[in-house]
Amino acid sequence: MARILITSALPYINGVKHLGNLVGSMLPADVYARYMRMRGHEVLAICATDEHGTPAELAALEAGQDVADYCAENHELQKKFGDAFGLEWDYFGRSSGPENHKLTQHFAELLEANGLIEERTDQQVYSIDDARFLPDRYIEGTCPKCGYEKARGDQCDSCGSLLDPVDLIDAYSTVSGSKNLEVRDTTHLYLLQSKMVPEIRELVKSRTDWSPLVSSIANKWLDEGLHDRCITRDLKWGIPVLKDGKPRPGFEDKVFYVWFDAPIAYIAATQEWASHDGGNRHWERWWYGEEAKDVSYVQFMGKDNVPFHTVSFPVTLLGSHEPWKSADKIKGFNWLNWYGDKFSTSMKRGVFMDQALDLLPADYWRYYLMANAPEGSDTTFTWEHFAGVVNKDLADVLGNFVNRVLRFTSSKFGDALPNGGAAGPREAALTEDLSKSVAAYAAQLEALEFRKAFQELRGIWVQCNEYLTEAAPWSAFKEDPDAAAVGVRTAINLIRIYALLAWPVIPETSKRMLKALGREGDAGHWPETIAEELQVLKVGDGFEIPDVLFQKIDDAQIEEWTVRFGGEASGEE
Ligand code: MF3
Ligand code: ZN
Repeated sequence: MARILITSALPYINGVKHLGNLVGSMLPADVYARYMRMRGHEVLAICATDEHGTPAELAALEAGQDVADYCAENHELQKKFGDAFGLEWDYFGRSSGPENHKLTQHFAELLEANGLIEERTDQQVYSIDDARFLPDRYIEGTCPKCGYEKARGDQCDSCGSLLDPVDLIDAYSTVSGSKNLEVRDTTHLYLLQSKMVPEIRELVKSRTDWSPLVSSIANKWLDEGLHDRCITRDLKWGIPVLKDGKPRPGFEDKVFYVWFDAPIAYIAATQEWASHDGGNRHWERWWYGEEAKDVSYVQFMGKDNVPFHTVSFPVTLLGSHEPWKSADKIKGFNWLNWYGDKFSTSMKRGVFMDQALDLLPADYWRYYLMANAPEGSDTTFTWEHFAGVVNKDLADVLGNFVNRVLRFTSSKFGDALPNGGAAGPREAALTEDLSKSVAAYAAQLEALEFRKAFQELRGIWVQCNEYLTEAAPWSAFKEDPDAAAVGVRTAINLIRIYALLAWPVIPETSKRMLKALGREGDAGHWPETIAEELQVLKVGDGFEIPDVLFQKIDDAQIEEWTVRFGGEASGEE
């Protein structure tokens, strides 16, 4: 039994997340956590809202709310929709909590003592009309790299480049729109990443389990030369900058940069988790020193987050010279696009978690998103594609099997598994094939290859449909009712195995299937030995026929949703 620490990139607090956010971090983390728990490992799955920086301040401004209130409310909302999507975090914390304040200040202190932080006076854009500096998202303009006209001060959403606000062309304040800007001197703390290049290179080289996308982004960053990073901002909301436990002189109106404190919140959220159980939980076991050495730490994130996790956060951890755990595996995702454009929170483009659940239960989305996860390249969401996958894989191949088998059995034999004698060669062949496919499915999940994993799962559904076609209990029934009975008895046991295998991705449906078989207690159990698992339900065991597991999506719905969500490329960001 291993210990597995799982974190998903912390969602920004600025509103309900869209399906692109979901598939790029939180959902695969949940699928993996569920799978690893099934295999008997000790899992700790941690997430939190990322509550600092300009995304939080600007969203609160737009909502006309105090930032702290805005964050508290939106944390609850995100928690609620996460729960509704079946995301089984051990803890969903907040980067603005007291633990993160303390820990962030602790890291800054150590890094400074180790010569990795220094004060530098540098130039920042100042808005005369707003009477304030314009860090990060407070400023927009044309990207100097790709010419995109609404690049944000910190990052271009179009080409992904990290930017310095002073380099934006035709820049304007996002608060007032004012172009009455000038460059002023201001003093900030800099993290001297350039000093840590050898250590980071060593780390990247040693991490053979980072996905190829991740390693290539990390190496690109290292090859371009690591720049020292400004880790404070002229903002009010955030973690105060201290010196010897008191406000740092000259930094009274500054806070740490969100990207400095956010990854630290992985640890802080684990501390929050630990503080919730009367001292029986120990965060150090997962993060610190000897006792955390044998933990396998797996991170999930979208590709824009990769530099911060492969370079900046490791600089913080390693530069502290304390024995912190860093990621053993990093799974990075490409983009899920919306009709060829990006999903966009600011443009409200795409489908958001709350809206998705208004349309259909979580499992429809969970399966679709994971089976089509943007792993090798960006992928595109369209209603037609979504409906195609739901109708075929979920409704026809899976759902139909379950209902057909149970209905037929009920009508011919009653609502219990029939006798009919021993299984024969057909069942033996099925057992062998299925054992192989289940092993392949497990191996893909283990390897974090989700598309391949769910292709295998779908393959298993197809395989069992084929078994049923061959066994053909409906036609065998007349001449050889015993053979028909063996067929349906096996098929009903297959339904139970389906339910077990599907637990990581469609847990609600898995539970419904098990409930129909009177086996709710099996949820989360892994079918280790197929030959045995095919015998679990015995002659005489009862069942119920569940309601249709998955409703097909029809053309009228596709049309309605296309109109409602503007399912068409808008051609602009
Ligand atoms: N909030 C960031 C985003 O959505 C991700 C932060 S990951 C963290 O892109 F670990 F740094 F928190
Ligand atoms: Zn750009």
